Amino acid sequence: MKRVTEFARFRNEARPISMVTCYDAWSASLLAGSPIDAVLVGDSVAMVMHGYPDTVHATVRMMEFHTAAVRRGIGGEAFIIADMPFAEHRKGKVAAMRCVERLMRAGANAVKIEGAEGHLEVIEHIIGSGVPVMGHLGLTPQSVHLFGGHRLQGRGAAEAQKIEADAVALEEAGVFSVVLECIPAELAGRVTERLNIPTIGIGSGAACGGQVLVLQDLLGLSAGFRPRFLRTYLDGAEQVQAALARFDAEVKGRHYPSEKESWHAGIQDD
Ligand code: KIV
Repeated sequence: MKRVTEFARFRNEARPISMVTCYDAWSASLLAGSPIDAVLVGDSVAMVMHGYPDTVHATVRMMEFHTAAVRRGIGGEAFIIADMPFAEHRKGKVAAMRCVERLMRAGANAVKIEGAEGHLEVIEHIIGSGVPVMGHLGLTPQSVHLFGGHRLQGRGAAEAQKIEADAVALEEAGVFSVVLECIPAELAGRVTERLNIPTIGIGSGAACGGQVLVLQDLLGLSAGFRPRFLRTYLDGAEQVQAALARFDAEVKGRHYPSEKESWHAGIQDD
């Protein structure tokens, strides 16, 4: 996907959208050769790459730094969405725009903002400034302390109604898509039916307009992280451990490097 207008086209054509997270130039260059539709520089970077317990620890500097790395690795064509880090969209329009400016200059094509109530005006202002915004409802990880953990949202009728109303409000504010994280599949289906923009689900069932996963999770590289919704497409952790054990054994057995992997004085190639 190259531009934001394709999200609406895919919604109209009922064509599912694939999205994965990406935090660095190395994995971005792998994604550049893949058919994945959109790339999210998620604030989950704070947990996955920096070892923090939650996304509250992501900062503007961190998001800017990783967005720039992903843009360098993936090239000019890919559609990159960068997460607005914790609290930045709650500090008023000027502070929010300062953050948006840094993320867009770093290489993002759009920003993603968690929640709706209390900052719809800020979202409208960002969109009015020419920047596409993706919404994010349900388990919004920046509210982990309010939720008392990373847990399913929208179980009860009141919570479900609130998520549905927030989704409609976000669409009216002009967002181009909404991530629905860890809500019951029936609720995600209702929201998806109701909106004219695509929903992208994570842990929210099959009815969403697309699906997003954290790259390391889908590659099986997040050892021990096995939530119900996660399907792994590679046993990455096992394969990496096996490769490291082989390297270690070959070094210690003096099987690496070989003659062919060594230079000798007088050999011309470099
Ligand atoms: O930060 C992130 O990885 C996300 C996705 C899980 C949607 O927001």
